[in-house]
Amino acid sequence: MMKEAMLSVKDLKVSFYKDTGSVQVVRGFDMDVNKGEIVGVLGESGSGKTVSVSGILRLMDDMEGFYDTGEILYEGKDIMKLKRKKPSDKLGAKRLL
Ligand SMILES: Nc1ncnc2c1ncn2[C@@H]1O[C@H](COP(=O)(O)OP(=O)(O)OP(=O)(O)O)[C@@H](O)[C@H]1O
Ligand SMILES: [Mg+2]
Repeated sequence: MMKEAMLSVKDLKVSFYKDTGSVQVVRGFDMDVNKGEIVGVLGESGSGKTVSVSGILRLMDDMEGFYDTGEILYEGKDIMKLKRKKPSDKLGAKRLL
């Protein structure tokens, strides 16, 4: 049996509110990261690298973005379902971006 990935992101979709309505800027981001693995995300400017990773670190509220759909499993737990306190404080997440 395949070992479960430490971090597994499935079909993450992120939008922002604009004057004209909401705009979806990430349309289905998938990623599996195994323990000890280093993953780089490549893409042209504006393609959604920062927003995708901010989504995984659950910083969207700070950025005024929101999730449309998706699943983020960290060690098997769906962190999208966790109540968000201040992950930026908890994880030191902002410093990673
Ligand atoms: N706070 C925000 N409010 C509204 N739209 C945003 C916000 N942050 C990013 N976007 C939009 O989301 C899209 C993805 O942007 P993002 O910053 O993730 O790109 P990037 O791949 O990290 O680019 P770069 O290589 O320049 O860092 C862009 O169209 C951008 O305009
Ligand atoms: Mg960026």
